[in-house]
Amino acid sequence: MAYDAANNSLEAHWMPFSDNRGFKEDPRLVVRAEGVHLYDHRGGKLIDGSSGLFCSPAGHCHPKIAEAVAKQMTEYTYVMPFQAGHPGSFALAEKVARMLPEPMNHVFFTNSGSESVDTAMKIVMAYWNARGETRPRFVSRERAYHGVNIGGVSLSGMVKNRDIFHATVPGVMMLRHTYDPNETFIPGGHSEHRGVELANDLERMAQTYGGQNIAAVFVEPVAGSTGALTPPKGYLQRLREICDQYGILLVFDEVITGFGRLGAPFAAQRYEVEPDIITMAKALTNGSIPMGAVGVKDEIYETVVGSSRRGLTEFFHGYTYSGHPAACAAGNAMMDIIVEEDLFARAQALIPYWEEALMGGLKGHELVRDIRVAGLMAAVEVHPEGGPGLRGTELQKRMFWNGLSVKFTGDNAILAPQFIAERAHIDEIVEKFRLTLDQMRDNG
Ligand SMILES: Cc1ncc(COP(=O)(O)O)c(C=O)c1O
Repeated sequence: MAYDAANNSLEAHWMPFSDNRGFKEDPRLVVRAEGVHLYDHRGGKLIDGSSGLFCSPAGHCHPKIAEAVAKQMTEYTYVMPFQAGHPGSFALAEKVARMLPEPMNHVFFTNSGSESVDTAMKIVMAYWNARGETRPRFVSRERAYHGVNIGGVSLSGMVKNRDIFHATVPGVMMLRHTYDPNETFIPGGHSEHRGVELANDLERMAQTYGGQNIAAVFVEPVAGSTGALTPPKGYLQRLREICDQYGILLVFDEVITGFGRLGAPFAAQRYEVEPDIITMAKALTNGSIPMGAVGVKDEIYETVVGSSRRGLTEFFHGYTYSGHPAACAAGNAMMDIIVEEDLFARAQALIPYWEEALMGGLKGHELVRDIRVAGLMAAVEVHPEGGPGLRGTELQKRMFWNGLSVKFTGDNAILAPQFIAERAHIDEIVEKFRLTLDQMRDNG
């Protein structure tokens, strides 16, 4: 389907997280996609440098997902998820639970990462209520991104995402972020320094406000949207220790890191730290149908479910589209593809090449301030010019017309190749990135 400029000014659609005016003057529309490639409305071919928004590690338009969803649409298209069900959601929950660390065998379905975060907050509240404890405080972290619903905004550590949205949840406290501007281009991405010291912020909060008043700590194991900030050595382990000491629940927001981005199924396995709850979305359906999920430890499920009288609803929460048949069909197909195509191992095998290619190709460029690699993801941060984010926005546009699709947050390009990418695709991403930087450096 081509874009019909004569009949559509594009004005009707208020685009999310976008420069609407700039985009509508210079539209960049994708009209077809396949594997690692996208095709724009002018007929250009692009390589997808960010797997969409970290959504599609198995490649665009995977035929197995397309077939599974098409078949589902001829069997049943909607089943009410409250007090009824369909086999697809139970099958998918089993498959996801098998990938989660033990003992995390229960999965609640949502439709996005934001809904997963808000659902996790409500599960935490339901859990403490069932235990007869009042714990009014949540802990999050500076520079955190936990989606855009009011719960997630309350946990947000990114100022633009929260500064005009005042009706947030009270009682949220912020750990310091883990970025150290003096440490750049770190091989492997992991600082040796300050892991325990930074995690001890939680200890200080527990000492100041009473650990028994803190319900949960939410962290992205690798802070993705803010620029691929990896945890310093010992950081996540120390958070876990402090949580254990005060009985605080530890929630990993794995909306980006889930399903293999770091080479292991989840960051929890990659860093060998067991959270109590994991939020996920994106790659769950290879980005093909909106879906999110929350994995919880058995003890949390059993406590909440066991706390009310038999015959009554236990948890007053859920969405009309929780476990939607089309999303489950896509999710089930994706979980099979992960196994059949050995996607996690492929991601793992590509990580060293990815890091070498980025450091070799972009480190030392006059416009590049830092490169942070986190598994098969990386942030390439450019020096700001004319104000924060302006250079990043301009680069994003130019990269598109140079045949590279990249997600930018401000002046950070967040790259995340697909797990099906070959080394030549990695080279292409780095070359097109560098070419665009050169053009900007030479011609402004
Ligand atoms: C860590 C994290 N949590 C939550 C979200 C929100 O997900 P969604 O955009 O699907 O609502 C994102 C999105 O990028 C994310 O990176």
